[in-house]
Amino acid sequence: MNTPDIVQRGGRVLPVVVNDRESEARTPANRLYRIPDAARDPFTPCPPAPFMRAGEHDLTRLAPGRPQASGEAIAITGRILDEDLRPVRRTLVEVWGANAHGRYSHVIDAGRNDAPLDPNFYGFGRLVTDDDGRYQLRTIKPGAYIARTDIGWWRPPHVHFSVVGSGVRLVTQMYFPDEPLNEKDFIFLIVPAADRDRVIGQPAATHAGDRAFRFDIVIRGRFQTPPDLD
Ligand SMILES: [Fe+2]
Repeated sequence: MNTPDIVQRGGRVLPVVVNDRESEARTPANRLYRIPDAARDPFTPCPPAPFMRAGEHDLTRLAPGRPQASGEAIAITGRILDEDLRPVRRTLVEVWGANAHGRYSHVIDAGRNDAPLDPNFYGFGRLVTDDDGRYQLRTIKPGAYIARTDIGWWRPPHVHFSVVGSGVRLVTQMYFPDEPLNEKDFIFLIVPAADRDRVIGQPAATHAGDRAFRFDIVIRGRFQTPPDLD
């Protein structure tokens, strides 16, 4: 294929040098258009509805109708947003956390944590956002737990989130307001000071009698929720 040394663009004739072919090929010749939402949606991973079972957003009990776990039941609500702060619709949100005593239902925690398990708390849930990117879940406020006995490092109460949407996975943690341990937690302190409020659930109106927190998550871009570096 011959290398053109003249390019017609917009009625103008532009000379290009022979070895400029690649940059010319990479430069859009036409005006850029924003892809409409409707065209972008099919690229968003969307779990099929039957994949989810009823009650998976409620971590306070093992299954609907089972006894409630120990501790304070809380509600967490929010929106999952993309880099343009538009809703990420029908996307998977996974949540996990320690029980009220600060113990995870995980084999690794069994060897390092003396806090008791709660037979009514598994500590993992999941849900799919609605058409407005909203989610709502119910869980037990996690207890603090010791992360390093040698240096006396306690992790403050926190809830882990994983969001899969628009081709990315963001893993982060939601902290609680007015927790003295926040300011001593090395993982919390990794978050730049100006962004720390964005990983703290904001008190909201009670939800069905539960104390509630608002936690919006931006999955990428300049407003991205600080990711988990744990
Ligand atoms: Fe944790």
